[in-house]
Amino acid sequence: MASKPLLLIHGFPLTHNMWTPQITYLSSVTQVIAPDLRGFSAEGSPFSIEDLADDMCQTLDDHGASEAIVGGFSMGGYVALALAERHPDRVAGLVLVSTHPYADSNSIKQTRQQMINTIQTSGFEPQSMLSMLLTTETIESKPQLKELVLDENIPDQALVWALEAMAQRPDRMHVLKDFKKPCLIIQADLDMVMPAQAAEDMHSAMPQSTLIRVPNAAHLVNLEQPELVNEAFEKFIHKV
Ligand code: MLT
Repeated sequence: MASKPLLLIHGFPLTHNMWTPQITYLSSVTQVIAPDLRGFSAEGSPFSIEDLADDMCQTLDDHGASEAIVGGFSMGGYVALALAERHPDRVAGLVLVSTHPYADSNSIKQTRQQMINTIQTSGFEPQSMLSMLLTTETIESKPQLKELVLDENIPDQALVWALEAMAQRPDRMHVLKDFKKPCLIIQADLDMVMPAQAAEDMHSAMPQSTLIRVPNAAHLVNLEQPELVNEAFEKFIHKV
């Protein structure tokens, strides 16, 4: 049987470019669909995480895919969980990369609001996020990765909508508890953005899941250790 298509959902403040090593490698394994979220590369309108999940259904329709393996990175993982909740028949399996199912705490909501205020008064500075996304070693040894991570073209308005959407999303641990299809969880050992316990909690909620901890990698684990992540995706695609 042919492999299921793979839908890759990017994180914040990124575009599909963050998936470049996976798109390049996995396109010979299956059909890879890697859209930009609403407003990130084209004109948009305000959205919730649930709207983005519904958009992903439309994207699958546009590609003639009745279902797909859904890989979500960080904010893209929040969208993947909303997709699994709202349209379970479109999700053949989940790959959750550097993400978690919890709603924002009050302090995270405040941090998001501060970021919105900064963007609205002085504009977004992509450079300011770099050290949270990649290790210093990777930034120094692979400067070309900056092109995939620092996108000056994402409209500030889309970033504000995304921050608001993330702050408003509910907890989705119950989605994982109800999810009985295959799931791969990928966690980076040097991730400063995601709570360390999250991958463990998600793995416990889904006895059928596989958890991979990637060494020497910060939040953008798929760029830090592309070979390891590609191999894990490929194995998973063959299994689903
Ligand atoms: C991301 O990488 O998509 C974001 O850091 C997620 C978040 O801010 O919660």
